[in-house]
Amino acid sequence: MRLVLQLTLLPILAIALLLGACKQATQKTDQSRAKTSARTSGEPWWKEAVVYQIYPRSFKDSNGDGVGDLQGIISKLDYVKSLGIDMVWLNPIYASPNKDNGYDISDYQNIMKEFGTMQDFDALLKGFHDREIKVFMDLVVNHCSSEHAWFKSARSSRNSPYYKYFHWWPAEKGKPPYRWSIFDEKGDAWEYNKATNSYYLHYFADAQPDLNWENPQLRQEIYKMMRFWLDKGIDGFRLDAIAFCSKDTTWQPLPAEYNGQWGMYYASGPYLHDYMQEMNREVLSKYNVATVAEAMGDVERVMKFVDPDRKELNMAYYFEAIDFGYLPNEYKMPNPKGYDFVAWKKIYAKWTEAFSKKGWGTIYLANHDQPRMLTRWGNDSPEFRDAASKMLSTFILSMRGTAFYYYGDEIGMSNIKFDKVEEYNDIELLTNYAQVKAKGGDLKRFLEGMKISSRDNGRTPMQWENSENGGFGAGKPWLKVNPNYTSVNVAAQEKDPKSVLNYFRKMVQLRKKERTLIYGDFTLVDAENPSIFAYTRSLEGRTILVLLNFKAVEAKVNIDGLDLSKAKVLLGNYPDAKAINQLKPYEALVLSL
Ligand code: GLC
Ligand code: CA
Repeated sequence: MRLVLQLTLLPILAIALLLGACKQATQKTDQSRAKTSARTSGEPWWKEAVVYQIYPRSFKDSNGDGVGDLQGIISKLDYVKSLGIDMVWLNPIYASPNKDNGYDISDYQNIMKEFGTMQDFDALLKGFHDREIKVFMDLVVNHCSSEHAWFKSARSSRNSPYYKYFHWWPAEKGKPPYRWSIFDEKGDAWEYNKATNSYYLHYFADAQPDLNWENPQLRQEIYKMMRFWLDKGIDGFRLDAIAFCSKDTTWQPLPAEYNGQWGMYYASGPYLHDYMQEMNREVLSKYNVATVAEAMGDVERVMKFVDPDRKELNMAYYFEAIDFGYLPNEYKMPNPKGYDFVAWKKIYAKWTEAFSKKGWGTIYLANHDQPRMLTRWGNDSPEFRDAASKMLSTFILSMRGTAFYYYGDEIGMSNIKFDKVEEYNDIELLTNYAQVKAKGGDLKRFLEGMKISSRDNGRTPMQWENSENGGFGAGKPWLKVNPNYTSVNVAAQEKDPKSVLNYFRKMVQLRKKERTLIYGDFTLVDAENPSIFAYTRSLEGRTILVLLNFKAVEAKVNIDGLDLSKAKVLLGNYPDAKAINQLKPYEALVLSL
């Protein structure tokens, strides 16, 4: 009897010991991670986080070479903390020849020379963690740089051990079947390579060859690299262009059903989700970290990444709302007639509804791939910039989904609106300009459109103060500082309790205080209203009403169906709200009912 007991107990004991050891191991790395601050037991911290995105090239230059760097960010840690945010997402800081500003990585385990050293990175991570701020890194693994050692070897010979790390079409089979490239002057994703007499695939620029995920050895290299950063204690990844990683390597002609929708086709690779599940099993599940997918595609495609039952990733961006209002079949050309506001609201309603059943979404109006939110979705005229900035911050921080907020938006930075193509730096703009030019298109019209939509508008240096270069750094900045830095800057707004910056801080605090703003159900109110975005968020008997006027004129909203008898203003961007159902230009009102 005793023997039986011992025999059955022994394996249990062994398992318990093992479990203890595993726990200790994860606890060790988790200690170096920032403290978890989820206030709702059982819910993961990342649902409640407010994320602040830093574009390192443009945040703060510490050594006067005109390029932002890690020491620059370190010098602003207390500022970032003062915003009240929980997590920072850093755009790529890895070694890179910078054809696409770090999205072309030549060494995944080293820091870009201009940004600093690994010691600087460790100090930066510690600096954030000491302030209880988590850190997300960009993971750019659909492609690498043509300067990466793997590609340099691969392109030298078909016998290179790295040849199969990339996708090739042997020239003896003739021309490869057409694939669209996003940053190529000819729009062609196959580039001929003489030494191997074959074409390599690049969905982005020819300096960004696509990695061959169909090769298990390549996937293991990526997982190893991910562990390197996770073992340092970072808190998660933003997975760049990840929806494109799996390819149909039988290279059939583009199926007719995807006519004109290359993005949708690229996001439909045959083994995409097998790879995500493998990555989760082998890497992510071993750490207490979070992930966000840059996920092209429709609801059905995007949902697959974040449906928790599938064990892939945690959150996803979607593009339907942010890409809204451009002319069809033209590169980011804003419709001169503006955009259909009612239809735009319904896009948000559709995705929010989908994520309320399964998975988890994100809310953002800008990032390094977008123009400034104030210019694109608000109004950057001197008269309205203040109200419109505050209104847009209210939107991001009162919607359902993890809030992603872009550096500079907290002070209402706006598009720089370059006149000349020479002033631009961005490969996306330059290659698309070349395409328009090659086709004999209207370059003036193109440049006018780009004043609204181009990415460099969102990449100009941070405006810290009213001194040379806006306090970004002593040297000539890599991209021009917006001349409005003299009035739009952090120092001026710190002093003014009513500034855009201080409003943003208040709105962050409100979101933190109100679980309803995080988990509450979302319902559109007065959905057909052509000026006002109105919705309620409700949770456990508490209802919050959000009213946002997206137009430059006063507008009425129909809230007759709601009980306003106990309505109380929680926050608003005008000193005195006139009447709840009549909003001033760009007015924002958050009320508890
Ligand atoms: C993603 C990045 C973008 C980059 C592209 C290629 O869309 O956000 O900045 O240019 O991927 O890596
Ligand atoms: Ca620098």
